[in-house]
Amino acid sequence: MDRREGPGRLGRVVITRQEVATRVTDLGLAIRRDYAGRFPLFVGVLKGALVFAADLFRAAALPSSLDFMGVSSYGGDARPSGIVRLTADLSMSIEGRDVIIVEDIIDTGRTIAYLRRNLATRHPRSLAFCVLLDKVARREVEVTVDYVGFAIPDEFVVGYGLDHDGYYRNLRDVAVLDPSASA
Ligand code: PRP
Repeated sequence: MDRREGPGRLGRVVITRQEVATRVTDLGLAIRRDYAGRFPLFVGVLKGALVFAADLFRAAALPSSLDFMGVSSYGGDARPSGIVRLTADLSMSIEGRDVIIVEDIIDTGRTIAYLRRNLATRHPRSLAFCVLLDKVARREVEVTVDYVGFAIPDEFVVGYGLDHDGYYRNLRDVAVLDPSASA
């Protein structure tokens, strides 16, 4: 795609903004129940989880804090490079904390496997993963997550934090790109 031309055209919507909102509310309530009486730290994984983390954090409505880390596995292409890089670290210690990692999508599973390894060395009291979208068919690394929003087929999706070439993170629905747009 010629970057001077801006984003490619969108294809069909696969998850509407209403469906996203309902599911995020449900996930927030489940976390609220599971963490009653505790003070968890939500950690959004930038950049994709920015929107989901902000909504989930409010939906859970717990006495909790929010931090972010930056991790990247896509070099700007539609397929992961297989190499996970930490691009920004947490701003605080997680030692002794109940940590909930918030991710927008699991694809190969490498990012979550990396985060689990990395964060376990920092001795949190507990470590849970909440993921909005699970592209089950693409898994290369066995990972377990605690909360999942939607299982989706192997299609490249954008919106609600997910991008293509940096665009569409601000789209409220989750949609596929028009296949002709990436030609
Ligand atoms: C995406 C997504 C996950 C990761 C999942 O991040 O946000 O972090 O890929 O893929 P995996 O299961 O194959 O590891 P991306 O590298 O696109 O960065 P971004 O969040 O800044 O868009």
